[in-house]
Amino acid sequence: MAQKQNNQQENPLFQKVVAHAKEYGFVFQSSEVYDGLQAVYDYGQIGVQLKNNIKQLWWKAMTQVNENIVGIDAAIFMHPLVWKASGHVDNFSDPMIDNKDSKKRYRVDHLIEEKAEVLKSEGKIQDAENLLAQMDSLLAKEDFAGLYQLIIDQKIACNISNTINWTEVRQFNLMFSTQMGAVAGESDTIYLRPETAQGIFVNFLNVQKTGRMKIPFGIAQIGKAFRNEIVAKQFIFRMREFEQMEMQYFVRPGEEMQNYNHWKQKRMSFLHAIGLPAEKLRFHDHVKLAHYANAAVDIEYEFPFGFKELEGIHSRTDFDLTQHQALSKTKMIYFDEEIQEKEKQRYVPYVVETSIGADRLFLAILCNSYTETTGVDAKGEEKTRLYLKLHPAIAPVKVAVFPLVKKDGLPEKAREVFEELRYDFDTIYEEKGAIGKNYTRMDMIGTPFCVTIDHDTLNDEAVTVRFRDTTEQVRIAIKDLKALIAKEVSLKNIFDKLK
Ligand code: GAP
Repeated sequence: MAQKQNNQQENPLFQKVVAHAKEYGFVFQSSEVYDGLQAVYDYGQIGVQLKNNIKQLWWKAMTQVNENIVGIDAAIFMHPLVWKASGHVDNFSDPMIDNKDSKKRYRVDHLIEEKAEVLKSEGKIQDAENLLAQMDSLLAKEDFAGLYQLIIDQKIACNISNTINWTEVRQFNLMFSTQMGAVAGESDTIYLRPETAQGIFVNFLNVQKTGRMKIPFGIAQIGKAFRNEIVAKQFIFRMREFEQMEMQYFVRPGEEMQNYNHWKQKRMSFLHAIGLPAEKLRFHDHVKLAHYANAAVDIEYEFPFGFKELEGIHSRTDFDLTQHQALSKTKMIYFDEEIQEKEKQRYVPYVVETSIGADRLFLAILCNSYTETTGVDAKGEEKTRLYLKLHPAIAPVKVAVFPLVKKDGLPEKAREVFEELRYDFDTIYEEKGAIGKNYTRMDMIGTPFCVTIDHDTLNDEAVTVRFRDTTEQVRIAIKDLKALIAKEVSLKNIFDKLK
């Protein structure tokens, strides 16, 4: 169980990002003093601020910007039948294979994809594509014997034992289970939710009725989800305990595709608006659809280790509500008084879902903001500068206040400025250390503004503001500080781009 963070980050840029995340208090390995718990992470003092800002931004972009979307916070524990109805008990599994020599377990698709990457790196592009096509076709047919044979034929070896001494391919359910109540037994088994979406489906009627919601409308939720991921790699990209930000949009049957296309574009615009560049984002249509979907697409982001799924947009049909209707014996019917034809007025709504991992978005933002620039300093020497180019609206700390020296009444004046700012913005006060070093430290956590109080401040009531991205320094009256910062850190800068 104990494993060090982590052996998989071969990419040099990614290694730097992971090291930076730890060094500056963004992310720590869970239970690190016990050698860590694999694929489980803690957010540190700076990381939690960034993550909260990301979640708050998403929440507002859903519930505040859209008049017909409301939020809920459902419990993690749910009735066991929820997961029977949703299909997770029977279908939420991945084909796995174990190496008999190393005892290491692999996801079959990851094992084959890694082989395809090797073939590509050897210039055997066609062979790689054939291999992936064969794999897709076998996965679609759930032909496990065929997948086993493909691994043997391709001589795909375990990267620890280097042997092809494999077990047969088996399905492995990804849900964590536990017991509720004092007496353990089959009937008490409950699951840690593997997605937050089901908490929304089972509350559809509650919210629709108490909120007098009219279709189309959405329910948004942010919360923890748990999956017993077998292949835990790439830092917080794939975790066993993570947070999802999901929104289910309830629509009339037959109107799901136009809403699906609408949300595809909206979610892509959101990711652009928070600073992820267009060239690092792309759509990837699902070829093999999940059991509940009639259309599905991923928005992929180009992480340092390649384009990978960041968000999913799924047209889930009426599958979930119909299933809950069947197993709970509660009618999940909406009465649509705007429809004229009587026989079409009552229906089970269709659902378009947007689903993004808060941790995965955090990682994308962290990777994207990690900026190294090389320039020549005053002495003519080449210097590399490092800073996090975070959108000011989500930066963990908005402004840092420093007295130039720790005497002559400057700390007192600086604290006055700090008191003035701290209730409106996340503000840090620091009187230790040289100003240059303090600026650098703020660059490392992406603080957009540094404010320095010097001797002149005592006479002219003005301060020096240093801007993170340009390192430009300007003199500004204390009375104008709040307005300057507020303008830059306002969420409206992002929301205006979403209209
Ligand atoms: N309700 C639909 C659903 O859960 P999903 O594609 O399995 O769909 C949605 O997950 C998003 O949740 C992913 O795009 C990803 O951002 C995030 N996610 C899924 N598994 C994750 C994991 N093990 N660690 C971190 N984030 C994960």
